Amino acid sequence: MGRLEGKVALISGAARGQGADEARLFAEEGACVVLGDIIDEEGRQVSAEIGELGGNATYVHLDVTSESDWKNAVSTAVNEYGKLDVLVNNAGILITKGLEETDNSDWEAIQDVNSKGVFLGAKAAVPAMRAAGSGSIVNISSIAGLIGSRFTAYGASKGLVRILSKSIAVEYGPEQIRCNSVHPGIIETDMVDGLIGTDGGRQAMIDRTPLGIIANARDVSLGVLYLASDESRYVTGSELVIDGGITVRK
Ligand SMILES: NC(=O)c1ccc[n+]([C@@H]2O[C@H](COP(=O)([O-])OP(=O)(O)OC[C@H]3O[C@@H](n4cnc5c(N)ncnc54)[C@H](O)[C@@H]3O)[C@@H](O)[C@H]2O)c1
Repeated sequence: MGRLEGKVALISGAARGQGADEARLFAEEGACVVLGDIIDEEGRQVSAEIGELGGNATYVHLDVTSESDWKNAVSTAVNEYGKLDVLVNNAGILITKGLEETDNSDWEAIQDVNSKGVFLGAKAAVPAMRAAGSGSIVNISSIAGLIGSRFTAYGASKGLVRILSKSIAVEYGPEQIRCNSVHPGIIETDMVDGLIGTDGGRQAMIDRTPLGIIANARDVSLGVLYLASDESRYVTGSELVIDGGITVRK
C-alpha cells in the first residue's frame, strides 16, 4: 500500500522542478493530486504524464497571489476527489539582489508570491481539511529562511514562511491540522540555473556543502512525502532542513 493511499493533495508550483517531482511521487504513493501553477501548458503535461502512468491527477490554473484562484483550486480537489488532506505550498520565485539593489517592485513581487501565497493557500485549505477531519500543510521555505544571505528580499520572504508555519501549527493543532516548514539547500532546478549553471558556480556550491553534493528535486520530495503522510502524525511546527549540512557548518 502507498504511503499516501486515500489522500488528496494540492501542490502549488507543480508544473516543474520540485513541485512536479512531488506530484509524481505523491501519485506513485497512492494520492490523488491537484497540480496548480501559472505555466499551464507545462502543468497540464505533468498531470497527463501522471495519468498515463496510472495515477490520479488534475491540473488547475493557480496563481498563488490570487485568493479566488486558491478557492477554485481547493474546490477542484473537493469536487474531483471528494476532500482535501494535504497542501504543499511549493510555488516560489527567487530574486538574487542585495538590500540596495532591491527596489519596491522587487520586494512586493517576492513577498506576494513567496509569503502572501502561502498565507492565502493555508487560509483556503483549512476549511476543507476541517471538513476532512485532519490535514497536513507543508510549506516550502529555504535555508535562506533560517540564516542570513545576500538575497535580502528572498530571505525575508522565506523567514516569514518559517514562523507562519509555526503559528498555523499552534492555531490548528487541536483540529489535527498539522503544519511544518521545509528548508532546502541547493537543489538542481531551473530556479538556481543562474547560480550553479557555470562550472565555477557549481564548484562553489559544492565546496559550501559538507556532504559535497548538489541535491536533486527527489531529495526534497521524500522529506515532503514524510510530512504529508500519517507517518508524521506527531510532527507539527517543525523545520525539516534538507541542505547537505550547509547551515551547520562554521
Ligand atoms: N532550487 C533551490 O535550490 C531551492 C532552494 C530552497 C528553496 N527553494 C524553494 O523551493 C520551491 C520550488 O522551487 P524550484 O526549485 O522547484 O523552482 P522552479 O522555479 O523550478 O519552480 C517554481 C514553480 O513555481 C511556479 N510559480 C512561480 N510563481 C507562481 C505563482 N504566482 N503562482 C503559482 N505558481 C508559481 C513556477 O511557474 C514554477 O513551476 C520554491 O518555493 C523555492 O523558493 C528552492
